[in-house]
Amino acid sequence: MSARASWSGQLAFVLAAAASAIGLGNLWRFPYLAAHYGGGVFIAMYLLLALTLGGALLITEIALGRKSRQSQLTVFGALGHSRWNWLGLAATLVPFLILPYYCVIGGWVVKYFCAYASAVLGGGNPLASPDVFFKAFIGAPWSPYVFFLIFTAGTMGVILLGVKRGIEQVNLLLMPLLLVMAFALALYVATRPGAGAGIRFYLVPDFANCPNLGKVILGAMGQMFYSLSLAMGIMITYGSYMRRDDSIPRSVVGVVFSDLAVAVLAGFMVVPAVVAFAAQSGAEGSRAAIEAGPGLMFVTLPKVFATLGVAGAWVGLAFFLLVLFAAFTSAISMTEACVAAVGDRFHCSRRLSVGAVTVTVLVLGAFSAFGYGRWSMLKPFGMPMLDFFDFFANSLMCPVVAAATCIFVGWVLGPRTVVDECSFGGKFRMEGLYSVTMRYLAPVLVIAILVSEVCRYFGWGGWSI
Ligand code: PHE
Repeated sequence: MSARASWSGQLAFVLAAAASAIGLGNLWRFPYLAAHYGGGVFIAMYLLLALTLGGALLITEIALGRKSRQSQLTVFGALGHSRWNWLGLAATLVPFLILPYYCVIGGWVVKYFCAYASAVLGGGNPLASPDVFFKAFIGAPWSPYVFFLIFTAGTMGVILLGVKRGIEQVNLLLMPLLLVMAFALALYVATRPGAGAGIRFYLVPDFANCPNLGKVILGAMGQMFYSLSLAMGIMITYGSYMRRDDSIPRSVVGVVFSDLAVAVLAGFMVVPAVVAFAAQSGAEGSRAAIEAGPGLMFVTLPKVFATLGVAGAWVGLAFFLLVLFAAFTSAISMTEACVAAVGDRFHCSRRLSVGAVTVTVLVLGAFSAFGYGRWSMLKPFGMPMLDFFDFFANSLMCPVVAAATCIFVGWVLGPRTVVDECSFGGKFRMEGLYSVTMRYLAPVLVIAILVSEVCRYFGWGGWSI
């Protein structure tokens, strides 16, 4: 068996974990949640939660991976607790369920990028009626699957190249480009006429329009899990490639702050643009426009770009390239978690495990890709297939995996093991806080998310967020 791959250093690890964390969640979900939950109130709450609970969970996953040198499927057995192998299996199922539909959305982004590229080349106006364009595209007989294939092929290509030559190199190239583009776009939007109102709307705490604090906390916590790529084995796998002399706590601080920075920046880009547009067109109120949910990225923003005339084609092109980079590096991290799990369990070559994961993604992805068109009659619990996968994996399985991981570390393995692992790259100062978080705080908060997610989907009571 060949030696386990490893990152070339701490920077490579931080970059990889940040590249996984920074994705669609930062660019689209954070701005819209922040606007929904009273601006500054939400941002402050998110920061607090990410640094405490998020940090503790990140530390845990990375330390478990590094100590065992295994990915999520085999980590519990390797640590001498084979009775917890079911948890490894659950944590492996999550990326296997999310990756296919994430690649379908990645395909949508490729499609939009191509549409803006052809607008730029043709010198014409960008997408004149985005609503029609979006509906026609996702409902088309073949194109959603074709674009999904393109996105998936790119992802698998990078994974085949391996940890150092594939993942690391791509992150080194794409992450700086992503940051520069995000800055440039935010600056462009912030200097447009009427941007001030949008920035106020985004940042100033708005207690009148802010639902109760419990909901803000739940909303911020749900976003934090998704945004930090927690509870899907990714950080365990990435941790298993980390060298012993690198510091886990320091790396985690780097990851949390870069994730937050891009999320906040995305808000500067998205919120003022949409608010200014809504005020101009007078068609919808700012609040309604910003809360358009997933449509925000594929319908509302393209509408904003359309008002910019020829410049709009360029802005759209830059925006969707930025989104593409973010989605691509996140998909890569999920794929690596799946590939590593198969490799660690069956001791097969990387090529073979990439092949197995690819086949699974192509089959499961078909359900989501065709789910708004030729297979739209498949509606489990009344949801289109993509929404169903998202609900099942993200809203149900992730909190279960996260809660069980906290209980495992807090009460079975003992926080000491993680603390010891964290002390390799320097002294770990937050030992007490860490233990209390893992034993009491984290399980309670995580179970609260689970309950609220279930209530949301079934429309039960006021607990839904
Ligand atoms: N963290 C990513 C984001 O913010 C999404 C993601 C989810 C990535 C699951 C990997 C796994 O968009």
